[in-house]
Amino acid sequence: MSANSPPSLRALIFANASAVVTCAGPSRARRTREMSDVGELTGAAVVVVGDSIAAVGGTRELRAKYPAAGEIDCRGGVLTPGLVDSHTHAVFGRSRADEQEMRASGLGYMEIAAKGGGIHSSVRDVRQRTEDELLALTLPRIRRLMSYGTTTLEIKSGYGLTTRDELKMLSVIKRLSDVLPLRIVATFLGAHEIPVEFRERKSGRAAYVDLLVDEMIPAVAKQGLAKFADVFCEPGVFTPAETRRILIAAKAAGLHPKIHADEFESSGGAEIAADLGALSADHLGAITAEGVRALAASPTVATALPGTMLFLGKTKNAPVRALIDAGAAVALATDFNPGTSPTPNLPLMMTLGTSVLQMSAAEAMTAVTVNGAAALGLADETGQIAPGFSADLSLFEIDDWRELGYWYGDRRCIGSWCRGEPCHPLEPGLS
Ligand code: NIG
Ligand code: FE
Repeated sequence: MSANSPPSLRALIFANASAVVTCAGPSRARRTREMSDVGELTGAAVVVVGDSIAAVGGTRELRAKYPAAGEIDCRGGVLTPGLVDSHTHAVFGRSRADEQEMRASGLGYMEIAAKGGGIHSSVRDVRQRTEDELLALTLPRIRRLMSYGTTTLEIKSGYGLTTRDELKMLSVIKRLSDVLPLRIVATFLGAHEIPVEFRERKSGRAAYVDLLVDEMIPAVAKQGLAKFADVFCEPGVFTPAETRRILIAAKAAGLHPKIHADEFESSGGAEIAADLGALSADHLGAITAEGVRALAASPTVATALPGTMLFLGKTKNAPVRALIDAGAAVALATDFNPGTSPTPNLPLMMTLGTSVLQMSAAEAMTAVTVNGAAALGLADETGQIAPGFSADLSLFEIDDWRELGYWYGDRRCIGSWCRGEPCHPLEPGLS
Protein backbone atom coordinates (compact mmCIF):
# COMPACT_ATOMS: atom_id res chain seq x y z
CA MET A 1 0.00 0.00 0.00
CA SER A 2 1.30 3.46 -0.71
CA ALA A 3 1.82 5.91 2.10
CA ASN A 4 -1.03 7.94 0.62
CA SER A 5 -3.65 5.21 0.94
CA PRO A 6 -6.52 6.10 3.23
CA PRO A 7 -5.72 4.73 6.71
CA SER A 8 -8.86 2.60 6.60
CA LEU A 9 -7.39 0.58 3.73
CA ARG A 10 -3.92 0.07 5.19
CA ALA A 11 -3.28 -3.65 5.70
CA LEU A 12 -0.54 -4.98 7.98
CA ILE A 13 0.47 -8.53 8.68
CA PHE A 14 2.04 -9.28 12.05
CA ALA A 15 4.29 -12.26 11.34
CA ASN A 16 7.08 -14.28 12.97
CA ALA A 17 5.67 -14.31 16.51
CA SER A 18 6.67 -17.43 18.44
CA ALA A 19 3.13 -17.43 19.80
CA VAL A 20 -0.06 -15.43 19.46
CA VAL A 21 -2.09 -15.34 22.67
CA THR A 22 -5.56 -14.57 21.32
CA CYS A 23 -7.85 -14.73 24.39
CA ALA A 24 -10.48 -15.29 21.66
CA GLY A 25 -13.97 -16.26 22.76
CA PRO A 26 -17.18 -14.68 23.91
CA SER A 27 -17.34 -10.87 24.09
CA ARG A 28 -17.88 -10.80 27.84
CA ALA A 29 -16.05 -11.30 31.10
CA ARG A 30 -14.65 -14.82 31.59
CA ARG A 31 -15.30 -16.82 34.75
CA THR A 32 -14.03 -19.96 36.48
CA ARG A 33 -12.43 -22.34 33.94
CA GLU A 34 -12.93 -19.91 31.05
CA MET A 35 -10.24 -17.73 32.64
CA SER A 36 -7.70 -20.54 32.08
CA ASP A 37 -8.05 -20.62 28.29
CA VAL A 38 -5.88 -17.98 26.61
CA GLY A 39 -6.17 -19.43 23.10
CA GLU A 40 -2.44 -19.72 22.35
CA LEU A 41 -1.59 -20.23 18.65
CA THR A 42 1.83 -21.06 17.24
CA GLY A 43 2.91 -20.43 13.65
CA ALA A 44 0.11 -17.89 13.39
CA ALA A 45 -0.03 -14.38 11.98
CA VAL A 46 -2.50 -11.54 12.51
CA VAL A 47 -3.80 -9.28 9.75
CA VAL A 48 -4.90 -5.77 10.60
CA VAL A 49 -6.86 -3.68 8.10
CA GLY A 50 -7.25 -0.07 9.13
CA ASP A 51 -8.18 -0.02 12.80
CA SER A 52 -9.49 -3.59 13.07
CA ILE A 53 -8.26 -7.15 13.14
CA ALA A 54 -9.22 -8.74 9.81
CA ALA A 55 -7.84 -12.25 10.17
CA VAL A 56 -5.88 -14.60 12.43
CA GLY A 57 -4.39 -17.77 10.98
CA GLY A 58 -1.51 -19.55 9.28
CA THR A 59 1.20 -17.12 8.12
CA ARG A 60 1.55 -18.59 4.63
CA GLU A 61 -2.19 -18.51 3.93
CA LEU A 62 -2.54 -14.97 5.19
CA ARG A 63 0.44 -13.71 3.16
CA ALA A 64 -1.22 -15.24 0.07
CA LYS A 65 -4.59 -13.72 0.91
CA TYR A 66 -3.20 -10.22 1.62
CA PRO A 67 -0.32 -9.89 -0.88
CA ALA A 68 -0.21 -6.07 -0.63
CA ALA A 69 -0.04 -6.01 3.18
CA GLY A 70 2.90 -4.34 4.89
CA GLU A 71 4.68 -6.67 7.30
CA ILE A 72 5.57 -6.22 10.96
CA ASP A 73 8.29 -8.64 12.01
CA CYS A 74 7.46 -9.87 15.51
CA ARG A 75 11.04 -11.19 15.88
CA GLY A 76 10.06 -14.41 17.63
CA GLY A 77 8.32 -12.52 20.45
CA VAL A 78 4.87 -13.18 21.90
CA LEU A 79 1.91 -11.20 20.56
CA THR A 80 -0.98 -10.63 22.96
CA PRO A 81 -4.14 -8.52 22.95
CA GLY A 82 -3.26 -4.93 23.87
CA LEU A 83 -3.31 -4.89 27.68
CA VAL A 84 -6.16 -3.15 29.48
CA ASP A 85 -5.43 -1.20 32.67
CA SER A 86 -8.94 -0.68 33.99
CA HIS A 87 -8.22 1.34 37.15
CA THR A 88 -5.85 4.31 37.44
CA HIS A 89 -5.61 7.81 38.87
CA ALA A 90 -2.97 8.88 36.32
CA VAL A 91 -3.70 12.63 36.37
CA PHE A 92 -2.03 14.25 39.38
CA GLY A 93 0.58 16.83 40.28
CA ARG A 94 3.59 16.01 42.41
CA SER A 95 4.66 12.65 43.78
CA ARG A 96 3.97 11.71 47.42
CA ALA A 97 7.29 10.00 48.16
CA ASP A 98 7.26 11.63 51.62
CA GLU A 99 4.28 9.49 52.65
CA GLN A 100 6.10 6.26 51.84
CA GLU A 101 8.66 7.19 54.49
CA MET A 102 5.93 8.22 56.94
CA ARG A 103 4.39 4.77 56.58
CA ALA A 104 7.78 3.13 57.11
CA SER A 105 7.96 4.93 60.44
CA GLY A 106 4.63 3.45 61.49
CA LEU A 107 1.82 5.75 60.29
CA GLY A 108 -1.09 4.12 58.45
CA TYR A 109 -2.58 5.30 55.13
CA MET A 110 -5.83 6.43 56.78
CA GLU A 111 -3.89 8.13 59.62
CA ILE A 112 -1.91 10.16 57.10
CA ALA A 113 -5.21 11.13 55.43
CA ALA A 114 -6.67 12.16 58.81
CA LYS A 115 -3.74 14.59 59.21
CA GLY A 116 -4.60 16.27 55.89
CA GLY A 117 -2.16 14.19 53.83
CA GLY A 118 -2.97 11.39 51.41
CA ILE A 119 -5.67 12.26 48.88
CA HIS A 120 -6.03 15.75 50.48
CA SER A 121 -2.41 16.50 49.68
CA SER A 122 -2.89 15.69 45.97
CA VAL A 123 -6.12 17.73 46.01
CA ARG A 124 -4.32 20.86 47.29
CA ASP A 125 -1.68 20.35 44.62
CA VAL A 126 -4.06 19.72 41.68
CA ARG A 127 -6.26 22.70 42.58
CA GLN A 128 -3.26 25.00 42.16
CA ARG A 129 -2.30 23.75 38.73
CA THR A 130 -3.60 24.76 35.33
CA GLU A 131 -5.03 22.31 32.84
CA ASP A 132 -1.95 22.75 30.61
CA GLU A 133 0.39 22.06 33.51
CA LEU A 134 -1.47 18.86 34.43
CA LEU A 135 -1.45 17.77 30.80
CA ALA A 136 2.32 18.31 30.55
CA LEU A 137 2.89 16.35 33.79
CA THR A 138 0.66 13.48 32.73
CA LEU A 139 1.78 12.90 29.13
CA PRO A 140 5.14 11.28 29.99
CA ARG A 141 3.44 9.12 32.62
CA ILE A 142 1.00 7.73 30.09
CA ARG A 143 3.87 7.05 27.70
CA ARG A 144 5.46 4.99 30.48
CA LEU A 145 2.20 3.08 31.01
CA MET A 146 2.08 2.37 27.25
CA SER A 147 5.69 1.20 27.26
CA TYR A 148 4.69 -1.80 29.40
CA GLY A 149 2.02 -2.92 26.90
CA THR A 150 -1.09 -1.04 27.99
CA THR A 151 -3.24 0.08 25.05
CA THR A 152 -6.51 0.77 26.88
CA LEU A 153 -6.44 2.88 30.02
CA GLU A 154 -9.06 4.04 32.48
CA ILE A 155 -8.27 7.31 34.28
CA LYS A 156 -10.24 8.76 37.19
CA SER A 157 -10.67 12.33 38.31
CA GLY A 158 -10.87 12.79 42.08
CA TYR A 159 -8.06 15.16 43.04
CA GLY A 160 -10.13 18.28 42.35
CA LEU A 161 -13.22 17.87 44.56
CA THR A 162 -14.78 21.13 43.37
CA THR A 163 -16.93 21.30 40.26
CA ARG A 164 -14.33 23.46 38.53
CA ASP A 165 -11.34 21.30 39.46
CA GLU A 166 -13.06 17.99 38.70
CA LEU A 167 -14.04 19.33 35.26
CA LYS A 168 -10.45 20.52 34.83
CA MET A 169 -9.14 17.00 35.51
CA LEU A 170 -11.69 15.43 33.18
CA SER A 171 -10.78 17.83 30.45
CA VAL A 172 -7.09 16.90 30.87
CA ILE A 173 -8.17 13.25 30.41
CA LYS A 174 -10.11 14.23 27.25
CA ARG A 175 -7.06 16.06 25.86
CA LEU A 176 -4.81 13.08 26.65
CA SER A 177 -7.12 10.86 24.65
CA ASP A 178 -7.09 13.35 21.77
CA VAL A 179 -3.29 13.48 21.53
CA LEU A 180 -2.22 9.94 22.43
CA PRO A 181 -2.83 6.81 20.34
CA LEU A 182 -4.09 4.57 23.15
CA ARG A 183 -7.78 4.26 24.14
CA ILE A 184 -8.55 6.27 27.27
CA VAL A 185 -11.78 5.98 29.25
CA ALA A 186 -12.66 8.61 31.87
CA THR A 187 -14.28 8.03 35.26
CA PHE A 188 -15.71 10.81 37.44
CA LEU A 189 -14.44 10.29 41.01
CA GLY A 190 -15.67 13.45 42.71
CA ALA A 191 -16.55 11.07 45.57
CA HIS A 192 -12.90 10.25 46.27
CA GLU A 193 -12.85 12.10 49.61
CA ILE A 194 -14.84 14.64 51.59
CA PRO A 195 -12.73 17.77 50.97
CA VAL A 196 -11.11 19.34 54.02
CA GLU A 197 -13.21 22.53 53.77
CA PHE A 198 -16.39 20.42 53.99
CA ARG A 199 -15.04 18.15 56.74
CA GLU A 200 -14.42 21.24 58.87
CA ARG A 201 -18.03 22.47 58.49
CA LYS A 202 -21.02 21.31 60.52
CA SER A 203 -23.19 19.13 58.20
CA GLY A 204 -20.35 19.50 55.71
CA ARG A 205 -20.35 15.91 54.51
CA ALA A 206 -24.07 16.01 53.71
CA ALA A 207 -23.46 19.30 51.88
CA TYR A 208 -20.66 17.73 49.83
CA VAL A 209 -22.84 14.76 48.87
CA ASP A 210 -25.55 17.26 47.84
CA LEU A 211 -22.98 19.10 45.74
CA LEU A 212 -21.96 15.87 44.04
CA VAL A 213 -25.54 14.90 43.28
CA ASP A 214 -27.02 18.31 42.45
CA GLU A 215 -24.16 20.01 40.66
CA MET A 216 -21.10 17.92 39.81
CA ILE A 217 -22.76 14.81 38.34
CA PRO A 218 -25.13 16.86 36.13
CA ALA A 219 -22.24 19.08 34.94
CA VAL A 220 -20.00 16.10 34.10
CA ALA A 221 -22.85 14.31 32.32
CA LYS A 222 -23.85 17.43 30.40
CA GLN A 223 -20.31 17.95 29.11
CA GLY A 224 -19.97 14.26 28.23
CA LEU A 225 -16.59 14.11 29.94
CA ALA A 226 -16.90 10.73 31.70
CA LYS A 227 -18.30 7.28 31.01
CA PHE A 228 -18.30 6.06 34.64
CA ALA A 229 -18.76 7.39 38.16
CA ASP A 230 -16.86 5.91 41.08
CA VAL A 231 -17.09 6.29 44.89
CA PHE A 232 -14.49 5.49 47.59
CA CYS A 233 -16.86 3.50 49.83
CA GLU A 234 -14.84 2.99 53.01
CA PRO A 235 -15.27 3.65 56.75
CA GLY A 236 -14.05 7.23 57.26
CA VAL A 237 -14.72 8.20 53.65
CA PHE A 238 -18.15 7.60 52.02
CA THR A 239 -20.74 5.49 53.84
CA PRO A 240 -22.78 2.77 52.12
CA ALA A 241 -25.87 5.05 52.16
CA GLU A 242 -23.94 7.96 50.61
CA THR A 243 -22.40 5.62 48.05
CA ARG A 244 -25.82 4.39 46.97
CA ARG A 245 -27.23 7.89 46.73
CA ILE A 246 -24.30 9.17 44.64
CA LEU A 247 -24.26 6.19 42.30
CA ILE A 248 -28.03 6.12 41.81
CA ALA A 249 -27.84 9.78 40.78
CA ALA A 250 -24.86 9.04 38.51
CA LYS A 251 -26.65 6.14 36.86
CA ALA A 252 -29.72 8.29 36.23
CA ALA A 253 -27.44 10.85 34.56
CA GLY A 254 -25.93 8.15 32.31
CA LEU A 255 -22.68 7.55 34.22
CA HIS A 256 -22.25 3.83 34.86
CA PRO A 257 -21.24 2.96 38.48
CA LYS A 258 -17.90 1.60 39.68
CA ILE A 259 -16.87 1.35 43.35
CA HIS A 260 -13.65 1.46 45.39
CA ALA A 261 -15.08 -1.27 47.59
CA ASP A 262 -13.88 -2.79 50.86
CA GLU A 263 -10.29 -1.62 50.32
CA PHE A 264 -9.09 -1.69 53.94
CA GLU A 265 -12.23 -2.43 55.98
CA SER A 266 -15.47 -3.95 54.88
CA SER A 267 -18.54 -1.75 54.62
CA GLY A 268 -20.52 -3.81 52.15
CA GLY A 269 -19.15 -2.06 49.05
CA ALA A 270 -19.01 -5.27 47.01
CA GLU A 271 -22.66 -6.02 47.77
CA ILE A 272 -23.67 -2.47 46.77
CA ALA A 273 -21.71 -2.84 43.52
CA ALA A 274 -23.52 -6.08 42.69
CA ASP A 275 -26.87 -4.65 43.70
CA LEU A 276 -26.49 -1.50 41.57
CA GLY A 277 -25.14 -3.43 38.58
CA ALA A 278 -21.78 -1.63 38.78
CA LEU A 279 -19.33 -2.56 36.02
CA SER A 280 -16.69 -3.30 38.62
CA ALA A 281 -15.98 -3.48 42.34
CA ASP A 282 -12.33 -2.63 42.89
CA HIS A 283 -9.74 -3.36 45.63
CA LEU A 284 -11.71 -5.86 47.80
CA GLY A 285 -8.91 -6.36 50.35
CA ALA A 286 -11.53 -6.69 53.10
CA ILE A 287 -14.46 -8.18 51.17
CA THR A 288 -16.70 -10.47 53.25
CA ALA A 289 -17.93 -13.95 52.34
CA GLU A 290 -21.29 -12.38 51.46
CA GLY A 291 -19.49 -9.90 49.21
CA VAL A 292 -17.75 -12.77 47.40
CA ARG A 293 -21.09 -14.50 46.89
CA ALA A 294 -22.73 -11.30 45.68
CA LEU A 295 -20.02 -10.65 43.06
CA ALA A 296 -19.99 -14.28 41.93
CA ALA A 297 -23.73 -14.06 41.26
CA SER A 298 -23.53 -10.73 39.41
CA PRO A 299 -22.08 -9.40 36.14
CA THR A 300 -19.90 -6.95 38.14
CA VAL A 301 -16.17 -7.55 37.55
CA ALA A 302 -14.06 -7.99 40.72
CA THR A 303 -10.91 -5.94 40.15
CA ALA A 304 -7.89 -6.72 42.30
CA LEU A 305 -5.14 -4.10 42.67
CA PRO A 306 -2.27 -6.00 44.25
CA GLY A 307 0.29 -3.23 43.59
CA THR A 308 -1.55 -1.07 46.11
CA MET A 309 -1.32 -3.64 48.86
CA LEU A 310 2.36 -4.29 48.08
CA PHE A 311 3.23 -0.57 48.12
CA LEU A 312 1.33 0.04 51.36
CA GLY A 313 3.12 -2.89 52.96
CA LYS A 314 -0.10 -4.81 53.61
CA THR A 315 -0.18 -8.55 53.83
CA LYS A 316 -3.94 -8.76 53.41
CA ASN A 317 -5.09 -9.02 49.80
CA ALA A 318 -8.26 -9.49 47.81
CA PRO A 319 -9.23 -13.19 48.06
CA VAL A 320 -8.86 -13.69 44.34
CA ARG A 321 -8.64 -17.48 44.44
CA ALA A 322 -11.90 -17.64 46.38
CA LEU A 323 -13.50 -15.10 44.03
CA ILE A 324 -12.56 -17.07 40.89
CA ASP A 325 -13.55 -20.39 42.45
CA ALA A 326 -16.90 -18.93 43.51
CA GLY A 327 -17.54 -17.81 39.91
CA ALA A 328 -16.66 -14.11 39.92
CA ALA A 329 -15.01 -12.51 36.88
CA VAL A 330 -11.66 -11.13 38.05
CA ALA A 331 -9.57 -8.35 36.51
CA LEU A 332 -6.16 -7.00 37.56
CA ALA A 333 -5.13 -3.33 37.26
CA THR A 334 -2.32 -1.08 38.47
CA ASP A 335 -4.34 1.56 40.41
CA PHE A 336 -1.51 3.86 39.19
CA ASN A 337 -1.65 6.87 41.55
CA PRO A 338 0.77 8.98 43.61
CA GLY A 339 -0.32 7.73 47.04
CA THR A 340 -0.80 3.99 47.01
CA SER A 341 0.50 2.57 43.73
CA PRO A 342 2.98 4.65 41.74
CA THR A 343 3.72 1.94 39.17
CA PRO A 344 2.90 2.05 35.45
CA ASN A 345 3.76 -1.65 35.09
CA LEU A 346 0.68 -3.78 34.34
CA PRO A 347 2.64 -7.03 33.72
CA LEU A 348 3.96 -6.62 37.30
CA MET A 349 0.34 -7.00 38.44
CA MET A 350 0.32 -10.35 36.62
CA THR A 351 3.40 -11.33 38.66
CA LEU A 352 1.60 -10.40 41.88
CA GLY A 353 -1.54 -12.13 40.62
CA THR A 354 0.37 -15.39 40.34
CA SER A 355 2.90 -15.08 43.17
CA VAL A 356 0.65 -13.46 45.78
CA LEU A 357 -2.97 -14.03 44.73
CA GLN A 358 -2.59 -17.68 43.62
CA MET A 359 -3.81 -17.10 40.07
CA SER A 360 -2.52 -19.24 37.22
CA ALA A 361 -0.56 -17.42 34.48
CA ALA A 362 -3.57 -17.88 32.18
CA GLU A 363 -5.97 -16.37 34.73
CA ALA A 364 -3.62 -13.41 35.13
CA MET A 365 -3.49 -12.95 31.34
CA THR A 366 -7.30 -13.04 31.09
CA ALA A 367 -7.48 -10.55 33.98
CA VAL A 368 -5.47 -7.88 32.09
CA THR A 369 -7.14 -8.43 28.70
CA VAL A 370 -10.73 -9.65 28.29
CA ASN A 371 -11.76 -9.09 31.91
CA GLY A 372 -10.12 -5.65 32.07
CA ALA A 373 -12.06 -4.77 28.92
CA ALA A 374 -15.29 -6.06 30.51
CA ALA A 375 -14.64 -3.88 33.57
CA LEU A 376 -14.79 -0.92 31.17
CA GLY A 377 -17.80 -2.12 29.16
CA LEU A 378 -15.48 -2.74 26.20
CA ALA A 379 -15.53 -6.54 25.93
CA ASP A 380 -16.98 -6.38 22.42
CA GLU A 381 -14.27 -4.00 21.24
CA THR A 382 -10.92 -4.94 22.78
CA GLY A 383 -9.21 -7.57 24.97
CA GLN A 384 -8.94 -10.31 22.34
CA ILE A 385 -7.22 -10.97 19.04
CA ALA A 386 -10.09 -12.01 16.81
CA PRO A 387 -11.58 -10.76 13.54
CA GLY A 388 -13.72 -7.67 14.01
CA PHE A 389 -12.01 -6.55 17.23
CA SER A 390 -10.05 -3.33 17.46
CA ALA A 391 -6.45 -3.76 16.27
CA ASP A 392 -5.03 -3.53 19.79
CA LEU A 393 -1.87 -5.62 20.10
CA SER A 394 1.15 -5.84 22.37
CA LEU A 395 4.41 -7.56 21.51
CA PHE A 396 6.76 -8.89 24.18
CA GLU A 397 10.36 -10.03 23.95
CA ILE A 398 9.84 -13.35 25.73
CA ASP A 399 10.07 -17.00 24.68
CA ASP A 400 6.89 -18.24 26.34
CA TRP A 401 3.79 -16.17 27.19
CA ARG A 402 3.97 -17.33 30.82
CA GLU A 403 7.17 -15.31 31.11
CA LEU A 404 5.20 -12.07 30.94
CA GLY A 405 4.60 -12.23 34.68
CA TYR A 406 7.81 -14.14 35.35
CA TRP A 407 10.58 -11.63 34.51
CA TYR A 408 9.13 -9.50 37.21
CA GLY A 409 9.49 -5.77 37.12
CA ASP A 410 11.24 -6.04 33.75
CA ARG A 411 9.96 -4.18 30.72
CA ARG A 412 9.64 -6.75 27.96
CA CYS A 413 7.20 -4.86 25.71
CA ILE A 414 8.87 -4.03 22.37
CA GLY A 415 5.81 -2.78 20.54
CA SER A 416 2.15 -2.01 21.03
CA TRP A 417 -0.65 -0.79 18.80
CA CYS A 418 -4.11 0.60 19.46
CA ARG A 419 -6.64 0.73 16.61
CA GLY A 420 -3.71 -0.22 14.35
CA GLU A 421 -1.67 2.84 15.38
CA PRO A 422 1.68 2.40 17.16
CA CYS A 423 1.63 3.23 20.89
CA HIS A 424 5.07 1.97 21.87
CA PRO A 425 7.66 2.68 20.69
CA LEU A 426 6.23 6.00 19.69
CA GLU A 427 8.09 5.97 16.36
CA PRO A 428 6.74 3.60 13.71
CA GLY A 429 8.61 0.32 13.56
CA LEU A 430 9.85 -1.88 16.31
CA SER A 431 13.03 -0.34 17.62
O1 NIG B 1 -7.27 3.46 44.85
N1 NIG B 1 -8.45 4.44 47.71
C1 NIG B 1 -8.62 5.47 47.16
N2 NIG B 1 -7.97 5.92 46.11
C2 NIG B 1 -6.68 5.51 45.67
C3 NIG B 1 -5.60 6.20 46.42
C4 NIG B 1 -5.49 7.57 46.01
C5 NIG B 1 -4.43 8.32 46.73
O2 NIG B 1 -3.95 7.93 47.83
O3 NIG B 1 -4.11 9.36 46.19
C6 NIG B 1 -6.57 4.03 45.66
O4 NIG B 1 -5.80 3.41 46.40
FE1 FE C 1 -8.03 3.62 43.08
